[in-house]
Amino acid sequence: MKKFNNVTVLDHPLINHKIAILRSIDTHTKDFRELVEEITVLLTYEAFKDVPTQEVEVQTPLEKCKQKMVAENSIAIVPVLRAGLGMVSGVHTLFPTAKVGHIGMYRDEQTLIPQEYYCKLPDGIDKKRAIVLDPMLATGGSAIAAIDLLKNKGCKDIRQMSIIAAPEGVEKLAKAHPDVKIYVAVLDRCLNENGYILPGLGDAGDRLFGTK
Ligand code: PRP
Ligand code: URA
Repeated sequence: MKKFNNVTVLDHPLINHKIAILRSIDTHTKDFRELVEEITVLLTYEAFKDVPTQEVEVQTPLEKCKQKMVAENSIAIVPVLRAGLGMVSGVHTLFPTAKVGHIGMYRDEQTLIPQEYYCKLPDGIDKKRAIVLDPMLATGGSAIAAIDLLKNKGCKDIRQMSIIAAPEGVEKLAKAHPDVKIYVAVLDRCLNENGYILPGLGDAGDRLFGTK
């Protein structure tokens, strides 16, 4: 895949270890859900290296010191339903009070074109750093549509976080939204004829919620 300045592929041994278990057909809903959450914590750690901080004074048992703390209310978490829901708790681990907006989107099975069916975003979303969550970035259509929607609401600082991505989708998204930073845990080989990522993990929504 061509190199894009706005794309970070983590490809980290500790994350890759968890992704191996996540991919396996023998990993069932409870473990799958926990792994998605754990991987998301690690992705968030990387994606928010530049989060704004403010200096506060802290009294330790020994003396007073200055320490930087995160300006937490600057973040909005935006999962794309359904599968993005599985990543919310992972981001909340690091930003416990971040507000959550939901974008409902499903791919038409024939055309693979995303269909929006729900949108509820926190007040003041246009002033927040929005982090769009979806474990799977396949054709890129859903991510592009979700980000279009956020931009139409006035959002200026948007990041996309996915666990598994196909090169086709990353390229399409990186070109469509060059200002959006894209963080993916691992880059897979390609899409199959049905728009599924290979080797991938199957249908993330079904595996998270036990629907198939
Ligand atoms: C899956 C996945 C993404 C989308 C990715 O959702 O969770 O939202 O497909 O594909 P794309 O990059 O080609 O758009 P799906 O449409 O299966 O809906 P679901 O999560 O409700 O099952
Ligand atoms: N959505 C999924 O859940 N899995 C894929 O491989 C592609 C889209």
